[in-house]
Amino acid sequence: MQYDMKKSVVAMVLVTVFMSCAKQEEAPYVAVDPVFEKPSNFPEPHYDLASNPITKAGFDLGKKLFYDGKLASDGVVSCAFCHQQKFAFTHHGHPLSHGVDNRSGKRNSQPIQNLAFQKQFSWDGAAFHLDMFPIIPLTNPVEMDETVGNVLKKLAADATYQKMFAEAFKDGRVNADNTFKAMSQFMLMMVSANAKYDKYVRKEENVTLTAEESRGFTVFKSKCSSCHATDLFTDDSFRNNGLPVDPAVDDLGRMTVTLVPEDRYKFKVPSLRNVALTAPYMHDGRFGSLESVLNFYTDGMVTSATIDAQLKRPDGTVGISMTTQEKQDVIAFLKTLTDEEFIKDKRFAE
Ligand code: HEC
Ligand code: HEC
Repeated sequence: MQYDMKKSVVAMVLVTVFMSCAKQEEAPYVAVDPVFEKPSNFPEPHYDLASNPITKAGFDLGKKLFYDGKLASDGVVSCAFCHQQKFAFTHHGHPLSHGVDNRSGKRNSQPIQNLAFQKQFSWDGAAFHLDMFPIIPLTNPVEMDETVGNVLKKLAADATYQKMFAEAFKDGRVNADNTFKAMSQFMLMMVSANAKYDKYVRKEENVTLTAEESRGFTVFKSKCSSCHATDLFTDDSFRNNGLPVDPAVDDLGRMTVTLVPEDRYKFKVPSLRNVALTAPYMHDGRFGSLESVLNFYTDGMVTSATIDAQLKRPDGTVGISMTTQEKQDVIAFLKTLTDEEFIKDKRFAE
């Protein structure tokens, strides 16, 4: 009896060992899940990463969705149409983005980078959760001009998508929740933190700033970093930096969302990361170069009821005083925020 039991235990162990070997052989190659890493010079992420764990399958699905024109009513305008990697995921050369049927919007495309660290999205903060954001471009008539229902129908009818949803999510469903979570997984991984500036502040690879860049950094810290704050180069707030209002458009900015008159003409303080690549500038893309932006800060600003208090000079005029040399130095500094590794990162390429 005892002998028999021992024998069956041995047999069971052998069977288990055999099965696990067989299982290992059968198991498909499992690629490594992408790991979200907070750069040491960045603040804590705002996105709750535990609520949507990033996996290889989810990331791949998000990427496919991001590059797929099928999501738009015309079958052409994908997210990547207006968010191109080599320009830090902006629509280079287009002051105002244009979508389906070449219809023009009223805002300049924003870069997609470091979104895990932001609380609100778009120039006026219309979306307060990244998972909710894609509804805006998908349904906007001047962008992708679709309905969420229609997009889901197209995805559900596609065998490749069915398979990818099944691999990416436990319930495997092709629904809005999973679609947006997958897109977030892809976008959350898009962290830009390897510019010359980062290597300099993290004391990596013996990187030093040139005299010009270093002077520019000093000017930047005293005149710009109150709004373009932290190593994200934004304090994530909405402010009026004194741009003259185009009466034909009269974009109310943050007030569109809050309906509070104090928010009139306030726009998101943009991150200046990769700014040398993301021309044209401001919410409506009115400036084609960094030179014109700096000239605006010294000489082009107009006052209004909601202009940021910091931009008012003691003599009642508005603007940020800088010499021509200081402006050149600031531009040299801004160029140290260009992250070549990010724009060439194959993980984010089509
Ligand atoms: C027709 C051009 C166009 C298309 C297509 C487009 N976008 Fe955008 N995107 C923009 C513009 C313009 C803004 C700024 C919107 C605003 O402020 O109203 C923006 C803003 C964003 C932001 C906010 C970034 C931030 O820092 O707040 C995210 C995220 C984003 N887009 C993701 C996407 C995704 C995902 C898709 C595809 C589902 C997409 N976009 C499709 C033009 C486009
Ligand atoms: C009072 C806050 C504040 C200060 C100070 C400030 N900015 Fe800005 N900046 C903003 C806001 C807000 C915007 C977006 C305005 C809009 O589009 O309506 C902006 C936009 C920009 C842009 C355009 C970026 C893009 O992606 O379109 C650049 C470049 C820029 N600022 C550089 C600077 C520099 C350089 C300084 C210092 C000389 C500076 N800013 C000082 C608030 C500020």
